[in-house]
Amino acid sequence: MSPLPLILAAALPAADPHSLANPQIARATHVALDLTVRFDDKTIAGRADLTLEYPQGEARAATLDLDTRGLAIESVTDGAGKTLAFALEPPVKLLGQRLRITLPEPRPKQVRIAYRTSPQATALQWLEPRQTTSGKQPFLFTQSQSVHARSWVPCADGPGARLTYEAVVRVPAGTTAVMAAEAGSHDPAKGVFRFRMPQPIPPYLFALAAGEIARKDVGRRTAVYAEPAVLEKAAWEFAKMEEMVEAAERLYGPYAWGRWDVLVLPPSFPFGGMENPRLTFATPTIIAGDRSLTNVMAHELAHSWSGNLVTNATWSDFWLNEGFTSYIENRLIEEIYGKDRAQMEALLSLREIQETIANPRTAPARTAMYRDTTGEDPDDYEGAIVYQKGAAFLHMLETRFGRPAFDAFLRGYFDAHRFQGMTTPQFLEILRRDLFKGDAAAWADAKVDEWVTGTGLPSNAVVFASERFEKTRAAAQAFAKDGSLGGVRKDWATAEWLDFLGALPKDLTRAQMDALDRAFALTKSGNAEILSAWLMLAVRNDYEAAYPALEDFLLRQGRRKFLRPLYQALHDNPKTLERGKALYQKARPGYHSIATASIDAIFKS
Ligand code: BES
Ligand code: ZN
Repeated sequence: MSPLPLILAAALPAADPHSLANPQIARATHVALDLTVRFDDKTIAGRADLTLEYPQGEARAATLDLDTRGLAIESVTDGAGKTLAFALEPPVKLLGQRLRITLPEPRPKQVRIAYRTSPQATALQWLEPRQTTSGKQPFLFTQSQSVHARSWVPCADGPGARLTYEAVVRVPAGTTAVMAAEAGSHDPAKGVFRFRMPQPIPPYLFALAAGEIARKDVGRRTAVYAEPAVLEKAAWEFAKMEEMVEAAERLYGPYAWGRWDVLVLPPSFPFGGMENPRLTFATPTIIAGDRSLTNVMAHELAHSWSGNLVTNATWSDFWLNEGFTSYIENRLIEEIYGKDRAQMEALLSLREIQETIANPRTAPARTAMYRDTTGEDPDDYEGAIVYQKGAAFLHMLETRFGRPAFDAFLRGYFDAHRFQGMTTPQFLEILRRDLFKGDAAAWADAKVDEWVTGTGLPSNAVVFASERFEKTRAAAQAFAKDGSLGGVRKDWATAEWLDFLGALPKDLTRAQMDALDRAFALTKSGNAEILSAWLMLAVRNDYEAAYPALEDFLLRQGRRKFLRPLYQALHDNPKTLERGKALYQKARPGYHSIATASIDAIFKS
């Protein structure tokens, strides 16, 4: 429980431990991309024109080092077309290969790299037509976070190395290409699409998708992109996007990115959402038909401030992105849907933190928000800690200082550090100065150091009172005691169902499972969150009646958040281990590599 001294924390390496590039020496401020998307051999033929700057002077810049992963480099030339010598170094675990380009004197202002991506590029998922909803065309989407941009664009692929970009994307005629950037002139008949990102962004926000994609406006600066078959449902579900941007702007200042659109991807998208600037990427599993899972949209919008404007300097500082974003997500939910729903969602998060900390599988060191993650896969974070504990820390600060003061602090923080990287020690200095006004006693009393570098959950976490959760918990107790379902309401909100299911005893009899399912048809739930919580109970309790639904769920969507716990539960129960393995073998080809990386690890152990 005792926190690391901050002196130690501040001694973490300033360099990015997840990048092999040298942006301190030779840095690209802009990249012009020309990308040809080739569905037949699942590669992108690329050309990247980098505009260079030498922060420590040209004399020191003997090489330009870039991150790559699986890229075949065809040629490297300078702005005049003269060939430059280069070497692709041997692969390094998790990080890919350093591309070292020898720079002649005088140092070039421009470097052009011609390359080809690998069919196994970790950022790219190539879908066959049958893996899409419409089933007519193949589909490609990227997921660059955390360290995958380097598998489709040679770059300094760390969150601290920002650059602007422009792109020409060439796709087969009839296919639509979209990027998380401003649209330029498109020529769909020729399959040529142009984009521009005028704000400097870290490469983990590079994003592209191509396939059968339609568009519908839902507000003044908001639109939904999706496969035609899901467009209408998606537009209804996300109708409050405009309202969300307005609420966020009231709290944290002007939206810096122009438009906020969303692209609903085919169901193998491994995340709930991804905050690609101007164009959030989202899973279709948040379309529940009642807007009850739109907190994911609020979350991705919140990243337009926490993450995309002020960015974690390295992946060790990830909580600065996700903890802040989860807090803001909750504030936006309160603005749009009211305090009740926001507090229920915050309480569910608190339970997640507690369960993660109590889980014997969680290494205690991983319950610290801020720690040195050198050598680790940054995609393998402890979500309940960097997200929920991070948010709980901010809720504590809000409660301590009051909303007006805390909101003003956050707004000032985003404004003062926009388009910059932020380390945890830097943030703590800002917090000490601007919110605590240097009051050391208050700092100690708030247990800030324990929150940030300590393990577990500090005792001053805010626990909201929720009358509605008192009822769901009472209902769970009553059911466990004598099977009574009198306290359970068919019309509960998603959060109430999740709380009720989470409050049930871990072991339930087949008769109990049957009774719940008969009364509320949980096995048939169209709400992916409720269904996955129910299926977790089914696997733990060998409730075979739900296995066809379980199989269907694992085969029809690839969101890692749902897959990982279900496969873990299948693995942990000796009665379901073989079923789990067989199911995974069948489903694996449809999953994204980020998801399979996590699930392979379960079945290997
Ligand atoms: N940026 C994350 C997704 C991510 C994290 C991708 C790390 C790769 C590496 C995104 O903003 C996110 O947190 N999505 C959540 C949303 C949820 C917390 C509301 C998700 O996908 O479930
Ligand atoms: Zn996030």
